[in-house]
Amino acid sequence: MLVYEIIRKKLDGEENTAEEIRQLVDGFVRGEVAAEQMAAWLAAVYIRGLSDDETWWLTEAMAKSGRMIDLSSIEGIKVDKHSTGGVGDKVSVVVVPLVASAGVPVAKLTGRALGHTGGTADKLESIPGMRLNLSEEEFVTQVKRIGCAIAVATEDIAPADKKIYALRDKTATIASIPLIVSSILSKKLAGGADAFVFDVKFGDGAFMRRLEDARALAEGLVRTAKLAGKKVVAVLSSMEQPLGYAIGNAVEIAEAIDVLKGGGPTDVRELCIAISAQMLWLGGAVTNPEEGQSKARELLDSGMALEKFRQLVAAQGGDTKVLDEPLRLPQPSHKAEVPAEQTGVVMSIATRQLGLIAGQLGAGRLGAAEVDPAAGIVLLKKVGDQVEAGESLAILQSNKPIDNELIAKVRASFAIGEVAQKLPILAGFVQ
Ligand code: URA
Repeated sequence: MLVYEIIRKKLDGEENTAEEIRQLVDGFVRGEVAAEQMAAWLAAVYIRGLSDDETWWLTEAMAKSGRMIDLSSIEGIKVDKHSTGGVGDKVSVVVVPLVASAGVPVAKLTGRALGHTGGTADKLESIPGMRLNLSEEEFVTQVKRIGCAIAVATEDIAPADKKIYALRDKTATIASIPLIVSSILSKKLAGGADAFVFDVKFGDGAFMRRLEDARALAEGLVRTAKLAGKKVVAVLSSMEQPLGYAIGNAVEIAEAIDVLKGGGPTDVRELCIAISAQMLWLGGAVTNPEEGQSKARELLDSGMALEKFRQLVAAQGGDTKVLDEPLRLPQPSHKAEVPAEQTGVVMSIATRQLGLIAGQLGAGRLGAAEVDPAAGIVLLKKVGDQVEAGESLAILQSNKPIDNELIAKVRASFAIGEVAQKLPILAGFVQ
């Protein structure tokens, strides 16, 4: 069929067939479908939407546009998790070894920092020697040997997504649920797991600001993953304030290690337990998520999850001594405290803004600059906490001198008032 006719059908609100969608995606990747044609189809999808079947056909075509990792030689139900991105999100560092320590294989492909959000690959690479660029053979062999591996997703994973995303970014078509679903899920499907837990975040620091939009995305991910024949659950979690206290790379690894030792901030622990419980259930280690919760707590408190993390770090060349001596993690040459100007209660935290500032301190990938593993922000106060004038709200860290302007911006990110409730981390599940 002519590409013109594929676009016309979608513009007129008709359904495209699987073959038409495949032809469009493959043609675009090969350079046979022009960018203006793809842009017109994406705009039509943005306005008309896609049926569940169309969303699945698009996802499948995008997943198959590149290398599909074959995990079939690994025994058991392979489980993966994905977060839609946030500030201070170190959950993967905890849940991958946690779930693997119960015998459920976890083969996780992960990304790098993007915009105001951090990347698990950058965080783990702050551990001296830790290597994330594993070959497929190393990745699979490691999961067989120790039960888990975390590798950075290479360029040949769902290349159609990269090309389509760049076009969506230029044509104001990012905010379309079926396009977001196919973008996220195509990369996950190419990673080869049998079951997925999606951590769909909402709030100021999330991709989806409103809970109802996050829920719609979670529902789309769940319906489409089921059409792909996968087991799936989505968790809705708050990004109305950073997760935990640490934002950056080494600082987040130190906080994740605290959680793996049975401590750490309550919100991080609670979210890690909720996500692990679903992964343990989908992976067949427990008979229901409630049992998964007790199991996850037990694995954290007994040190089993920490031992699995030690194996993971060792297998990927990292210095395992950081687990016992976190000060071996990269430390910054500059630190600056952010004193509060008034007494009161923290009412809200401009989370997205803090993510961007952490990036400016060197924790993210702004421009071509290298990531500074020691850069970041350590919060001392969260929403609902009492603060006295002059008391520190946060500590900024970097290997370059810290601008007074950044300190002022961090101070302005905290709204201080009279009364505020602590924010819950979980807002529900979709399955
Ligand atoms: N994250 C993705 O990977 N893709 C989108 O389209 C949006 C967020």
